[in-house]
Amino acid sequence: MTAIDPSAPVAPFHLRGNFAPVLEEATAFDLPIQGAVPRDLRGLYVRNGPNPKTGQSPHWFVGDGMLHGVALRDGRALWYRNRWVRTRTFVEDAPPFTADGVRDLTAGRANTHVVAHAGRILALVETSFPVEVTRELDTVGCYDFDGRLTTGMTAHPKICPRTGELHFFAYSWAPPFLTYHRADAGGRLVQSEVIEVPGPTMIHDFAITERSVVFMDLPVVFDLELAMSGTIPYRWSDEYGARVGVMPRGGTSADVRWVEVSPCYVFHPLNAYDEGGEVVVDVVRYPEIWRTESFAGPPGRLHRWRLDAAAGRVREEPLDDRPIEFPRIDDRRAGLPHRYGYAVDTGRGVDEFDGTSLVKYDLRVGASTAHDFGAGRVPAEAVFVAASSAAGEDAGWLLTYVYDAARDGSDLVILDAADFTGKPVATIALPRRVPFGFHGSWIPAVA
Ligand SMILES: [Fe+2]
Repeated sequence: MTAIDPSAPVAPFHLRGNFAPVLEEATAFDLPIQGAVPRDLRGLYVRNGPNPKTGQSPHWFVGDGMLHGVALRDGRALWYRNRWVRTRTFVEDAPPFTADGVRDLTAGRANTHVVAHAGRILALVETSFPVEVTRELDTVGCYDFDGRLTTGMTAHPKICPRTGELHFFAYSWAPPFLTYHRADAGGRLVQSEVIEVPGPTMIHDFAITERSVVFMDLPVVFDLELAMSGTIPYRWSDEYGARVGVMPRGGTSADVRWVEVSPCYVFHPLNAYDEGGEVVVDVVRYPEIWRTESFAGPPGRLHRWRLDAAAGRVREEPLDDRPIEFPRIDDRRAGLPHRYGYAVDTGRGVDEFDGTSLVKYDLRVGASTAHDFGAGRVPAEAVFVAASSAAGEDAGWLLTYVYDAARDGSDLVILDAADFTGKPVATIALPRRVPFGFHGSWIPAVA
């Protein structure tokens, strides 16, 4: 055994343990299953995350995107594949700026989410154009909505379950700082609106309701000095203030009603909906982030804003004490009242990822329960899949990759959402570990 050199530099958290990238692409068929994969699960579970091709990256957020997918059908786990998204950055080290200093939206790492809409599967990072991939996770190339998209695209677009529309936005350190976009159910970009905000803040996610679009303009502000130093160019500001904007769907910047909220940062809302004259927004709220470069700080917790946009007032209410991230709902409730939510217990923090539990919220009764995977078994974001199109909220399954530290390997685990604390219905052993990553989707089979 090699002795540990106490003078050796310690790798940053995002290159250690199960944050460390995997350096090969693998394909495996007919994966071993413990339990039984529900026969109604016909499709692809796919998740994105940063995985630097060199094995090195200066920050967790800037590794090359890698997709990990498992195809399920007829009670079988047909295959596992992991594939880098072959962005121009990956293939040819394309720089983020052109020779004229303009942001090159065709360059980027596509490492944050993967979403299907209008027959296309898009790997997303918030700085760049989407990158289309196939069901076998091969890269097609940049997708700019047939030339109509002239900004980047958030990694967190929202599909309205009523209209099938894709709502999204882009933020930028250079004006316009915020632009809202809407594509129709067929994928045609039909609306782009510049939304006026006071400055260049980091806007990772947003929300929709049946009637409105909800923007978060929170005090993590672009810093040119940091940009010049090559790190993530955003820092907490005590001066900027925090506001949430409510825009009627189909509206413009002039229609946005901004409401001051107590300073905080939110990477991810759980969901939002209309209730009477109010907009209810449930978020994972951090009292602050990034006062320094460190991720360390108070954890995110579930929190509710009740926005009376007409009056410019908010009522705020903490909903739970658990430290969480990666909140998800049954996506059929996007923008509609939700009863249930699911999240990852972040344990000691997002730079540790040692929480061994998923959390389920029942917001009607104000309760939360945990599914503990056991010592050393660390779950990631859970994606809800409805048992059928007619099934009620919570009638379905939760799919997540679980890292097993004891064998340095990973499983795809399927829980019955309605029997959340019960034994997993299926545990599918993967041929390799899946590094901790970000977000994923269930993409139903076409036939
Ligand atoms: Fe995210």
